[in-house]
Amino acid sequence: MLIALLPGDGIGPEVIAEAVRVLGKVVGDKLNYETAAVGGAAYKSVGHPLPPETLDIAKRSKAILFGAVGDPDCDRLERHLRPEQAILGLRKALNLFANLRPATLFKELADASALRPEVAQAIDMVIVRELNGDVYFGEKGMRKTASGRREGYDIMSYDEDEVARIARIGFETARARRGKLCSVDKANVLETSQLWRDVMIEISTEFTDIELSHMYVDNAAMQLVRNPGQFDVIVTGNLFGDILSDQASMCAGSIGMLPSASLDSNQKGLYEPIHGSAPDIAGQGKANPLATILSAAMMLRYSLGMGAEADRIEAAVAKALESGARTSDLGGKLTTAQMGDAVLAAI
Ligand code: NAI
Ligand code: MG
Repeated sequence: MLIALLPGDGIGPEVIAEAVRVLGKVVGDKLNYETAAVGGAAYKSVGHPLPPETLDIAKRSKAILFGAVGDPDCDRLERHLRPEQAILGLRKALNLFANLRPATLFKELADASALRPEVAQAIDMVIVRELNGDVYFGEKGMRKTASGRREGYDIMSYDEDEVARIARIGFETARARRGKLCSVDKANVLETSQLWRDVMIEISTEFTDIELSHMYVDNAAMQLVRNPGQFDVIVTGNLFGDILSDQASMCAGSIGMLPSASLDSNQKGLYEPIHGSAPDIAGQGKANPLATILSAAMMLRYSLGMGAEADRIEAAVAKALESGARTSDLGGKLTTAQMGDAVLAAI
């Protein structure tokens, strides 16, 4: 099975290397890799952050393992040449419309959460965020009002098919977990949300084993810090999901711990840590590779049908943490490679 490896910039190559070592130990030679440049690295070598060869490898592969993009040398480039455009371009070109972000607190890291340890310990949820629609992609612009004031506008819209396909991902994700799906919207004021809620209820008839609930986004923000343990799977639109998933990640501890998946409707996906290229620590062997190793586990589970192997990796990460393995973001002294060694040893 072909996997596209896109290490990118900064700490990207460092953390991808550890994930590949772990995959090698767990699934051996079942995977073939093709590595391609992306982000600032690609701009510097061929003049574009997402070169056609890279996109081609991504299209041909069964899944993509992505490090991070972002390079301070590229900060002054025009927007379409900036490294960050590579990830947006991949999402668009591959129709990756569903973003899955698990937020789980490993019990050994309860002190790292922004919440009290006893509240934080209960966190074990996945946020399913729609990625290709909503206010980010609607008509937008800047205009003058009749009285000559400047007015910015961004149109929020969803059609029923867009809602239905993310709804099904939400229900299926809940089915593979504890069977509870909370749909987050603002149906008391937004038409978009009223449609969202109606379609969620319609699709729920295909998933009668799943318990569906609804919550307004302002209440959801409050509940995430008051009692995060109540959530199993949250499904929400692009804007609300952007905010809630960052909020949930800080409840769950270090940014160096959290994986993500972006999926299309055929089990193809792009898997990446939620963090960026961390230029402040790049090249120093300080990066925590666990978010990327956990992203590789998600890749096995969601795109390659290897759930048991994914479980083994996640269990090994927990065991490594239990044995005291810590990179500096977790208050320890291990290098990136030593953290990789600790996971390999636990496997
Ligand atoms: P960042 O996530 O790269 O770093 C934020 C802070 O967390 C830094 O202090 C960094 O050292 C630390 N950190 C991040 N990952 C870590 C890890 N694995 N282990 C230990 N410490 C870690 O976010 P920042 O600084 O806002 O952005 C840097 C660059 O990354 C920018 O160019 C940004 O656009 C890009 N970026 C790319 C993303 C992607 O590729 N999907 C996502 C987020 C940011
Ligand atoms: Mg965000």
